[in-house]
Amino acid sequence: MTGEKVGILVISYGSRAAAVIDALSRSENYEVRFYVADKQRNPFNVKHAEKHVVIPDLDVGKICDFVATNKNDIDFGICCPEKPIIEGVRDVVESKTGVAMICPTKRYAIEESKASQRYLIEECCAEANPGFKLFPCAEYESVSEVKSAVWEFLDEIGNEVAVKPDKPAAGKGVGVWGDHFTSREQLFEHFMSIFDGGSDVIIEEKMEGEESSFQAFCDGKRLAVLPETRDYKRAFDVDLGQNTGGMGSYKDNKDWLPFMDKSDREEEEKLVQKIFSRLRGNGSNEELRGMPFYVAFMHTGEGAKILEINSRPGDPEIQNVLPVLKSDFVDICFRMIEGNLSRIECEEKATVVTYAVPMDYGGYREKFSGDKKVDLSSAYALQEKYDDNLRIYPGSMELREDGYTYALGSRTVCTVGIGEDIAEARGISLDGIRNIDGALWNRGDIGAEYHIQRSVKRMQRGAVSGLAV
Ligand code: GLY
Repeated sequence: MTGEKVGILVISYGSRAAAVIDALSRSENYEVRFYVADKQRNPFNVKHAEKHVVIPDLDVGKICDFVATNKNDIDFGICCPEKPIIEGVRDVVESKTGVAMICPTKRYAIEESKASQRYLIEECCAEANPGFKLFPCAEYESVSEVKSAVWEFLDEIGNEVAVKPDKPAAGKGVGVWGDHFTSREQLFEHFMSIFDGGSDVIIEEKMEGEESSFQAFCDGKRLAVLPETRDYKRAFDVDLGQNTGGMGSYKDNKDWLPFMDKSDREEEEKLVQKIFSRLRGNGSNEELRGMPFYVAFMHTGEGAKILEINSRPGDPEIQNVLPVLKSDFVDICFRMIEGNLSRIECEEKATVVTYAVPMDYGGYREKFSGDKKVDLSSAYALQEKYDDNLRIYPGSMELREDGYTYALGSRTVCTVGIGEDIAEARGISLDGIRNIDGALWNRGDIGAEYHIQRSVKRMQRGAVSGLAV
């Protein structure tokens, strides 16, 4: 490697950051040195880092101290998880150290409040919103008062709703009619479990259909839209079990998914552009730099609706995209900072991400007290066979003093298969998973043909009937 030297801060939580580091380290134009602020000693990050610091709570002040100590060697930083973004990591690091950050400012951490998102969408593209109502804790004096307000809203909108905390709770606390409750009394019990904890609650009309994930990098002036991906939130095959952070995801060899067509993709872009234009105003708003819109869409018989918006890359969705970037990722980052981002080209390849997770993740086992050692060496050994079309990204794993790596509590490690089509990519991803030695489990149907065909049929039915499917 003879390229220009560049120092990059990566704020890391999960496999997503390993994928970011991998993509940056493959730069042909730069020799990258990584300064990693990590939740734990992620073995991949430790191996690649010039300097690595563990900050378990990803506290912004501690991250800023790390940057300040190394600021002469760091050209810019990129933040992957939402917590530091919401807590203003960009504002603090940029003002105290002058190091440019790739992530939106605190003001544009859109996931900070679900209700504010809904009000913004209402202003820009109301057609993408479900019916919703916010129940602020401070507005009600007694349980009976809030109960009658909830009942009144359900009379108006029907019982088929989702009940969510207004503040981010990493997917926890979300209750859905039919899954978590089947009567109003049960729904209200769920509502109170959030409300009693001091959080405002939002009730939204339940949206049914086919999900897709929209991601776009932004330099403040324009969005560079990435290929569409499909996340699998449910723990078990055939979409059973509880919601998780995402058990895997797939991307087709074109910009949209097999159950969508170009017009579905254009509809999504149009909606996001409306929100972007509203926030950007005339010209440019560099506070939006980064990935201000990772949008989960639900394609219903009534068009595309927005499930939620985040101001950071999706995990696992970004792992589908970074391995197939045609453009140099370091150049893309510099362009975001300089305000001259252009279209991002990707190879016409399909990718499938499968996560291996601990035995007690997602309700698979109540408890697991066995050995948590995980050995990735056989999986890494496969990479040569697949000619670099298998990527392995450790997430909630820790390298300990004894030299071994151990699974922690969340999603342990993901494998990314890259292929000419989804079936080939899936085969490679699953082969990687099969070669991981450790007490872990995974979904076997990420990107499976029957799953995709089910999505295709549901989209067709939705379009014909004009009803939510
Ligand atoms: N894939 C879900 C998330 O990143 O929030």
